[in-house]
Amino acid sequence: MKVLVIGTGAREHALCRSLSLDPDVTALHCAPGNAGIAEIAELHQVDALDGAAVAALAGRLGADLVVIGPEAPLVAGVADAVREAGIPVFGPSREAARLEGSKAFAKDVMAAAGVPTARSYVCTTAEEVASALDAFGAPYVVKDDGLAAGKGVVVTDDLEAAKAHAAACDRVVVEEYLDGPEVSLFAVTDGETVVPLQPAQDFKRALDGDQGPNTGGMGAYSPLPWADPKLVDEVKETVLQPTVDELRRRGTPFSGLLYAGLAITSRGVRVIEFNARFGDPETQVVLARLKTPLAGLLMAAATGNLAHLEPLRWSDEAAVTVVIASHNYPGTPRTGDPVTGLDEIAAKDAPHAYVLHAGTRKEGDSVVSAGGRVLSVTATGADLTEARERAYRSVARIRLEGSQHRTDIAAKAAEAAAQGA
Ligand code: AMP
Ligand code: GLY
Repeated sequence: MKVLVIGTGAREHALCRSLSLDPDVTALHCAPGNAGIAEIAELHQVDALDGAAVAALAGRLGADLVVIGPEAPLVAGVADAVREAGIPVFGPSREAARLEGSKAFAKDVMAAAGVPTARSYVCTTAEEVASALDAFGAPYVVKDDGLAAGKGVVVTDDLEAAKAHAAACDRVVVEEYLDGPEVSLFAVTDGETVVPLQPAQDFKRALDGDQGPNTGGMGAYSPLPWADPKLVDEVKETVLQPTVDELRRRGTPFSGLLYAGLAITSRGVRVIEFNARFGDPETQVVLARLKTPLAGLLMAAATGNLAHLEPLRWSDEAAVTVVIASHNYPGTPRTGDPVTGLDEIAAKDAPHAYVLHAGTRKEGDSVVSAGGRVLSVTATGADLTEARERAYRSVARIRLEGSQHRTDIAAKAAEAAAQGA
């Protein structure tokens, strides 16, 4: 099977890594890719938002399957263009991707499907915002209706800050605050059958102790030893399947990866958000544990054959990933700095620890930073404690001037699991 992956991040590197380990994959291409992906796939230049260009590239390469990583091409309708060219594609149509592209649309689908989520108002004027904030009280939650790379949400006790964020957006969703731990649960679906993956937890805030601004995600781990073993089945029944059924009923079936961002509140599970693609950095830890070959799973979803797939097989090991970000991320990041230590990790820490590249590119023989999130240092181990130790040992080998990373990824969960064991 010849596979073309679209995207540039550590999520795409994780997808390419798993695809490269699948014996059915005979050729692996990625566009535009990054310096790490270049080591396992052939890179091509393409405007990832241009459906005709992506379809033409896939045709030229003779791709049997196109996997679209990020949300922006999906929302722009790139999957539609590839599908129209007769090539199987893993990723939803433009219409179905609105589940991520518009928070208001997602709320409407959830209401119709009876999916538990925060109560909310869609607001376009300052008056509507003020009365919605008043109705829910603090902490205030204000979300930009459109795509904002994980940075469009403000959660604050400061009423003026909540109003100011709303004023900077055209349309916002104001919603009730959900407390309790967050879980990311992914499901692969062909529009009808839903196959959940293993849950993961992401660390959204920039700084240790969940302080600082929201980011795309600073680290993740899986499994979640503290979670109810029935969680996945419950979420499939109350969230994932009803959402997929509702989109099919509307004539816009969702095929691809449905990502449910959940809060485990004292009153039960609530959906915080849906995404229409694999999460980053959760994919790095979920795929580290998936034993079923990835290409066959994604192809089954792309071609409507998930009902016939064998149950997924998972490793019992734990996985942890730590994101190394540029100076000033999530603000405008500093780029172009050399990254060193990668060879040392490959020589001393593999195969238990390895580096997935996000914002990197080659400059001559060296790797330089090229984005906000630069690397996702990933490790597996018998339990979270061991996976964490291995990940941070490798993180310590990386040199990138001005870089930042959290030191507490999976720390609480590892400690709780160790005490419970
Ligand atoms: P989102 O982009 O919708 O995932 O929101 C980003 C982050 O903001 C989430 O991961 C949560 O940590 C936080 N958040 C979003 N909505 C709520 C809510 N209703 N209550 C509490 N925190 C929220
Ligand atoms: N890690 C959060 C996301 O991918 O949206």
